[in-house]
Amino acid sequence: MRVLLTGAQGMLGSVLLPCLQSEHQVCGVDQKDFDIGEEAAVGRAFLELRPEFVFHLAAFTDVDGCEANPYKAEQVNALGTRNVARACAEIGAGLLYVSTDYVFDGRGKRPYREDDCPNPISVYGLTKLRGERHVQALVARHIIVRSSWLYGPCGKNFVVTILKLAKEGGDLRVVSDQRGSPTYTRHLTLKLVELFATRAYGVFHVTGTGDCSWFEFAGAIVQSGGYPRLRVTPITTQEAARIARRPAFSVLENRRLAEIQLGALPHWSEGLAQYLEEGWRRGEFEMQAPNPQEAPLTQKVTCRRSGNKS
Ligand SMILES: NC(=O)c1ccc[n+]([C@@H]2O[C@H](COP(=O)([O-])OP(=O)(O)OC[C@H]3O[C@@H](n4cnc5c(N)ncnc54)[C@H](OP(=O)(O)O)[C@@H]3O)[C@@H](O)[C@H]2O)c1
Repeated sequence: MRVLLTGAQGMLGSVLLPCLQSEHQVCGVDQKDFDIGEEAAVGRAFLELRPEFVFHLAAFTDVDGCEANPYKAEQVNALGTRNVARACAEIGAGLLYVSTDYVFDGRGKRPYREDDCPNPISVYGLTKLRGERHVQALVARHIIVRSSWLYGPCGKNFVVTILKLAKEGGDLRVVSDQRGSPTYTRHLTLKLVELFATRAYGVFHVTGTGDCSWFEFAGAIVQSGGYPRLRVTPITTQEAARIARRPAFSVLENRRLAEIQLGALPHWSEGLAQYLEEGWRRGEFEMQAPNPQEAPLTQKVTCRRSGNKS
């Protein structure tokens, strides 16, 4: 099948691209190819490439950056997604859009289900939700996948940040009153491909199994990364004083995946162990006590950039 992937050089896109290429004829595009905020450019590219299915990952993902620049956030996340959805509708392509746990306000007392009412509390969450609405309104054959707390090769992420700070020494102060589910991009990618193959449509929550606070996640990273004696101090969201608000509880129940009999993703701690081991073998991390196994990497990822984002 002819597949188009937007955001191909982003953190998730870099892992998804080779995975899709093993089964489909895939064209990966990025901002250097065209800006999704420019409707005419998107339309032209789609007419030329004629994809039968589109995986739309491109987004302005810096959560604090979106708060500081809401115009750009709307332009890329909401209107950019509308442009992609319109172009899909015009050529009859199906569309998979990756969205976020930040569409919820975090006041829930149990994991959010796909049909719970979103109520974003940040510009990022709001503009991603507007993207979802455009996809639902314009493309009949759509899949919306909400995931959370992504980490993996090819991009700045929480794991890399904590390991860098750990190497520099000193105490780490990490927020303990926000809970979510860290998700390894390799695990998410495999599930996206599986989900796509079922031809099931609608909204799906797809996250690593289990949940933790950022503080607990940081504790696991320093422990497994070889800095067991490093002190991690819990702080409140208020103390962290970030620009954008974040949901206190954004755990997602992967209910629809179970309904269509697709297995759950591995636990986030398994994903972390796998990521650290692979990263160490590629020389990406300055870990003190790696625990590599001899098996070679099963899938190569080519990182063409070193992005910075939240
Ligand atoms: N990261 C997370 O924790 C997380 C959690 C839940 C959901 N998601 C969603 O998952 C998807 C992938 O996230 P990610 O972390 O892989 O993102 P990422 O690393 O920030 O990559 C985003 C990609 O989008 C491209 N892009 C940005 N603005 C564009 C524009 N105007 N036109 C065309 N391309 C543009 C970027 O290209 P340039 O590098 O050239 O700018 C980049 O390749 C996003 O839709 C995000 O909202 C992410």
